[in-house]
Amino acid sequence: MKNLSIGRHTVPYPLIQGGMGVRISGGRLAGHVARCGGVGIVAAAGLGLNTPHYDGKNFFTADPLALKDEIRKAYKIAPSGVVGVNCMVAVTNYEEMVEAACEAGAKIVISGAGLPLNLPSLTADWPEVALVPIVSSVKAADLIVRKWSKAYGRLPDAVVVEDPDTAGGHLGERMERIGSGEYDQYATVRGVRDLLREKWNAEIPVIAAGGVWSREDLLHSLKEGADGVQMASRFVCTEECDANDSFKQAYLDCNQEDIGLIMSPAGLPGRAISANIEKIRQRDIRMDIRCPSGCLKKCSYKTGRELFCIVHALDRAQRGDLETGLVFCGTNAWKADRITTVQAIFDELFQLADGVPRENAVNG
Ligand SMILES: Cc1cc2nc3c(=O)[nH]c(=O)nc-3n(C[C@H](O)[C@H](O)[C@H](O)COP(=O)(O)O)c2cc1C
Repeated sequence: MKNLSIGRHTVPYPLIQGGMGVRISGGRLAGHVARCGGVGIVAAAGLGLNTPHYDGKNFFTADPLALKDEIRKAYKIAPSGVVGVNCMVAVTNYEEMVEAACEAGAKIVISGAGLPLNLPSLTADWPEVALVPIVSSVKAADLIVRKWSKAYGRLPDAVVVEDPDTAGGHLGERMERIGSGEYDQYATVRGVRDLLREKWNAEIPVIAAGGVWSREDLLHSLKEGADGVQMASRFVCTEECDANDSFKQAYLDCNQEDIGLIMSPAGLPGRAISANIEKIRQRDIRMDIRCPSGCLKKCSYKTGRELFCIVHALDRAQRGDLETGLVFCGTNAWKADRITTVQAIFDELFQLADGVPRENAVNG
């Protein structure tokens, strides 16, 4: 199996740990993935909430401070590992969070939930930071690459193709098309590769995200044309994942039919353990919760009190409130059957006998 190079950064194993917002993938998970030889990703969204930086009102001050803390934490675990940040275009403080990530030494910025059309301008002072858009279609990749090439004279350093039929969290596809059988993950992976090769004469890694759980899934992805995989749900039930134990227990307890689609106030569908969605909504109505921070650029709860306040629903779940917290997950979450370690997952995926071979080991 080949290593993975994204811009100037190389990891021994072709694996990116998917960003999981609102402190499911903080510095601890990202650091351990980086230490084991993958790309560890701190998700920027809503990071400030469950920290001493947050006083109930200063969301936008707390968020970048918390992001910098988490990146530092990750590098403490993996001093020479590859640690990146996931920044969602849909959040209000997108620009500030990308800049905070670069200031704190993130080596890669991965960006989706919208088209990251201006990302290169935000990182212009940090040319060593690799830029990776997340797309679910060749058309979106084409738009981004054209804009980046024309306006900034650069191409992405990798592209993540996220499958709306399997991935967790917010999904880049219309609700009615998800699960309809129309979407072909690996046709999209190959389509993006052909676009980059034929139109831009560029060999850029294309990463498949969504539905990868086992070594068999990983080998399948590579055989179908991906240069690597992005995996998120698989890392939740690890000792190192930053979520509360109850969040992890929700994965252990859930069945396949408990995993469903919800409509997010961000205007995107999302995949979650969805049985309590009405309870979440009722809570916000009953307690007359007003939009506390304006964390999303576009939010139907902020403007019309429709649906529910998503960042606080995710935050409650991260802290272990499964009654009124929203547990995002991919379609494979039901497969979790024990709490394991990041190293054990790497051992299984890459068939390592005694953990990371010495020559591949990243400090820590
Ligand atoms: C709990 C959870 C939170 C997520 N949060 C984010 C996020 O903040 N930003 C993002 O781009 N993707 C997010 N995702 C999507 C993942 O990064 C990843 O691409 C996807 O879940 C891959 O599918 P898998 O979970 O089947 O491995 C999230 C996924 C999960 C399960």
